[in-house]
Amino acid sequence: MMSNSDQSHEAHADGIIEAGKKVPFYFYLLFFGLIAWGVVFIGYFLFSGWNSHSEFDEKMATHTTTYNQSDTAAATPLTASTSIDAKKLFASYCSGCHGEDGKGGYGSDLSSPSYKYGRDTDTVKTSIADGREGRMPSFGNQLKDDEIAALAEYVLNIK
Ligand code: HEC
Repeated sequence: MMSNSDQSHEAHADGIIEAGKKVPFYFYLLFFGLIAWGVVFIGYFLFSGWNSHSEFDEKMATHTTTYNQSDTAAATPLTASTSIDAKKLFASYCSGCHGEDGKGGYGSDLSSPSYKYGRDTDTVKTSIADGREGRMPSFGNQLKDDEIAALAEYVLNIK
C-alpha cells in the first residue's frame, strides 16, 4: 500500500495517487511536439498522394530510360555501321543516273579507273555530299555521314 503521507504525492478523491504535479516544460514540448509531428506526418502521407511504390516506379522509370539511352547510344554506331546496306542505298539513290551496276548512264561511269574529280574516298564523299556541277545532286541533307562514307566505299569498289 502506498502511503498518503508522502509529501510529493497527491491523493485524489478516487483514490488514485498522482506523482508530483510539476511536469517539466520540455515534457509538454516533447509530448505535444510528437503528436503534432505525427498528425503532420500522417496527413502528409495520407493526402499528398505519395507512396513508396509510385516513388519506386518513378525512379525505376528514370533509371530504365537513362540506361536504355546509354545502351542505345553505345550500340548505335555499331548497329548503324553494320546495318548500312550501301548496295541498297545505291540502288535507291544513285542507280537512276549511274545505272544499276554503277557503270554510268546519265551519270558518270563509277567503275572507271579515273574519276573526273578524283578517285579517293574524301573526294567521292564530297561529290556525294555536295554534288557536282549542278548535275550530280547533293545528298548531304538526305544521307547521314556514315551512309555517305559507306556509299563512297561502295562506289570505289564498283568494277
Ligand atoms: C540526278 C542524277 C544523279 C544521281 C541521282 C546521282 N548522281 Fe552522281 N553524278 C551525276 C552526274 C551527272 C555526275 C557527273 C557530274 C560532273 O561531271 O560534273 C555525277 C558524278 C558523281 C560522282 C563523281 C564522279 C567523278 O568522276 O568524279 C560520284 C562519286 C557520284 N556521282 C556518286 C553518286 C552517288 C553515290 C549517288 C547516290 C547517292 C549519285 N551519284 C547520285 C548524276 C547523278
